[in-house]
Amino acid sequence: MSAVTLAGRPEVPAGPPKLEPAELQAAQKQTLDAPRLHYGLLARLLFRATDLAYGTGPGIVKFAMLEYIARVPYQAWERVGYLVLARHRRRSALATRVFDRIVATRAEQDNEQWHLLIMQDLAQRGGLRQSPLRHRVAPWLIAFFYYHVSWLLLVIRPQASYRLNAAFEDHAEHEYMAYVAAHPELEREPDPGTYAAQYGRYASLADLFRQIGHDERVHKLDSLASLRAPRLADPLTEPAC
Ligand SMILES: [Fe+2]
Ligand SMILES: [Fe+2]
Repeated sequence: MSAVTLAGRPEVPAGPPKLEPAELQAAQKQTLDAPRLHYGLLARLLFRATDLAYGTGPGIVKFAMLEYIARVPYQAWERVGYLVLARHRRRSALATRVFDRIVATRAEQDNEQWHLLIMQDLAQRGGLRQSPLRHRVAPWLIAFFYYHVSWLLLVIRPQASYRLNAAFEDHAEHEYMAYVAAHPELEREPDPGTYAAQYGRYASLADLFRQIGHDERVHKLDSLASLRAPRLADPLTEPAC
């Protein structure tokens, strides 16, 4: 149900929680100690495509490309949400539930957008080169494929769409946390805070990456919850009636 403020306007979801330094350290350890999810064929295909385009090792430019692609399922689900909303516009209770889901998917999209902007900012500050073909055309092609797979799966087999996104988020969570573990120098590098007003400012670049990694975990858990929920509990996948 929509939360309503005193002013009578719906509240925008706050997004994943911002953690303190000790909590970020604990989150990193928890991720690195946990096994990865089992990745299905489509997920492995996406990871293979990104590895071919940007190399197998993590890095800031590769993270920027992954963030560009990460927004796509939320955009696809939002689009499906509006189609469902149009179909059920005369059923106010259901329309409200659908709209709540649309708002939630948009909040996750926005969170991924901040990740993308932060990574692009770090890539620019580091003078990291990006070519039009590898860093504009290739991610667009991967995102195009992922977008259409995401909405199609949500319509015909919603659990598969949520499972695919959970795999993508799990992969991102582990990649960020492993990157911080492999680069102890990040503990001494300051967070430039370019988007501090929107995303917060962290004690170091290491903590900034840990926070993003933890956001990915929250996204993963949201998708796993949708995956395990009964189909009728999810208004985006409710059949027409
Ligand atoms: Fe992200
Ligand atoms: Fe994510």
